[in-house]
Amino acid sequence: MTDTSTAETPKLETDPYEKRWMFISVVILIVFMATVTVAGFALGFQVPGDESRVDPRTVADSPPWSEPGIRDLGNGEYAAYVISRQYLFQPREITVPEGSTVTFYVTSVDVQHGFKLQDTNVNMQIVPGEVSKLTVEFDEPGEHLYICNEFCGIGHAAMFGSVIVEATTGGN
Ligand code: CUA
Repeated sequence: MTDTSTAETPKLETDPYEKRWMFISVVILIVFMATVTVAGFALGFQVPGDESRVDPRTVADSPPWSEPGIRDLGNGEYAAYVISRQYLFQPREITVPEGSTVTFYVTSVDVQHGFKLQDTNVNMQIVPGEVSKLTVEFDEPGEHLYICNEFCGIGHAAMFGSVIVEATTGGN
């Protein structure tokens, strides 16, 4: 009906409501980038390192994995070797004294699992054939569950263990 032959090129109008949302999305992006930068450089957040490669078919039989568990390295430093398999972690329990620094080395012998240590910033993806490594300090006595947070099959929900941090009495 309308005769458009003589009409001027219509100006592109953006709805104010849409404009507001475009603005908010840009602000959110900037906040996210700032968060990642601060976490990585100022707060020292670590990305789970791909520490080394192992053969998932034989890793459970070769040291140090053939004896999963905690190793006392002295000076309050510990190494924890953890095997993930459907549907359990080996070991199911790790005990360390308060004030220890523990480096976790976690691998899988079957499928992809997760390793999340509650009340810490440890949260790793566990990929068969690779060793995931993160270090955490336990300053307070207490118990931290480690749970598989990546769906790995029917028994996924039963896959957990715990780190027990024992109070040290007196000075050390
Ligand atoms: Cu292992 Cu979910």
